[in-house]
Amino acid sequence: MSTPSSEQRYQLVDSSTGKKTEIKALAGTMGPTVLDISGIPKDHGAFTFDPGFMATASCESRITFIDGEKGVLLYRGYPVEQLAENSSFLEVAYLLLHGDLPSQQQQEEFTNSIRYHTMINEALLRFFNGFHYNAHPMAMVSAVVASMSAFYHDSMDIHNARHREIFAHRIIAKIPTIAATAFKHSVGQPVIYPRNDIDYCANMLHMFFSVPCEAYKADPVAARALDLLFILHADHEQNASTSTVRLAGSTGANPYAAISAGISALWGPAHGGANEAVLTMLEQIGRVENIPKYVEMAKDKDSNFRLMGFGHRVYKNFDPRAKIIRKMCHEVLAQMGHTDNPLFELALRLEEVALKDDYFVSRKLYPNVDFYSGIIYSALGIPRSMFTVMFAIARTVGWVAHWQEMISDPGMRIGRPRQLYTGAQTRDYVGIDER
Ligand code: CMC
Repeated sequence: MSTPSSEQRYQLVDSSTGKKTEIKALAGTMGPTVLDISGIPKDHGAFTFDPGFMATASCESRITFIDGEKGVLLYRGYPVEQLAENSSFLEVAYLLLHGDLPSQQQQEEFTNSIRYHTMINEALLRFFNGFHYNAHPMAMVSAVVASMSAFYHDSMDIHNARHREIFAHRIIAKIPTIAATAFKHSVGQPVIYPRNDIDYCANMLHMFFSVPCEAYKADPVAARALDLLFILHADHEQNASTSTVRLAGSTGANPYAAISAGISALWGPAHGGANEAVLTMLEQIGRVENIPKYVEMAKDKDSNFRLMGFGHRVYKNFDPRAKIIRKMCHEVLAQMGHTDNPLFELALRLEEVALKDDYFVSRKLYPNVDFYSGIIYSALGIPRSMFTVMFAIARTVGWVAHWQEMISDPGMRIGRPRQLYTGAQTRDYVGIDER
């Protein structure tokens, strides 16, 4: 629980009436003080106004901590750099869901449970046939995940902790199968069923790239690269998609539907859709000589062009995930024999130019997690339209952890913001012939 901060005192004074209200300052375990403004509507008949939630902590959470000024990201207290170096995606998933790293036995039980939930209901598989071959995979994945709410009625009581756990394991296990099925549908290949004898990321590559007529063995370098990318994307506190999951879930909605809402929110280019947009942008820039022209366009307020993969609402320093992914790009491309990757070269030069430009420096715009991730996905053979789906697979863990945290909080309330109304004042209805 948050504790009242003993050092700081705040008062809101209504200058017309002189009425004073003490505003409690809450201290978390780390990070800035948070002012509890919940009493303002009652005491002053006023709401607070914060479009885009630039200054609002929407909830209390123990899962992920970000210090945007210092470029720090912690999952349950552990620096993401240490987890990327030493952990695995499923271990990180356990950590995010349960709060602590698992023991050997807990890890085996968790991994086995995920492993044995990988198949999706055959009826659900047929949903894909309703989509045109060129449907965007994010549209298919979000729709099929929402459709999961029509299944699994045996374990859907959100107030039952065991049911919540079954939901968590099911969605984490099945989302790669759904993603791979969307991919197979888009390329017109037969659906490949999951294999429970190989690990999470090797199985995903198997479902993506295996075909019934040939033997396939996932490249361990590719599987490890994917695992690392998933660790880095697993959670990011109250970002737009996680807040969407929390808001949808706060109504008591079916959790699969809440996750589907998160997938839809993630798709936007200002959020997870940026990884796809970065590659499109790099191809559009095409050559190093064109960089200055595009950097000028990104600075021009009359142009809609932005440097995709640059800037972040919270990070005003290097996104620590981008640093790891850039290093990974060098290693993975070398290990996979893609030493001469023109898009990576272009991305490195673009970063160099932007980071010397006063526009980006003064606004503290640095490369974010999406700037380099698409280059690795491409090297693994994953098509551009699937990039945001890969992000969604990893972020499902974070969404589930936040949904669980919210639902199991006895103080949970429906999320219901207010507004500053600027529309017409009360007026009387006028018949159509008098308008
Ligand atoms: N290119 C050019 N200018 C930019 C960029 C950019 N990528 N990002 C921000 N700015 C400028 C913006 O025009 C504004 O300038 P001014 O102060 O002169 O009006 C200033 O920087 C502040 O930007 P903002 O849009 O007010 O910042 P925000 O916190 O509302 O938006 C953002 C954050 C990530 C949406 C934005 O930086 C952006 O659109 N970046 C490109 C898309 C992108 O890479 N998104 C992925 C984010 S990380 C993945 C994830 O979401 O999990």
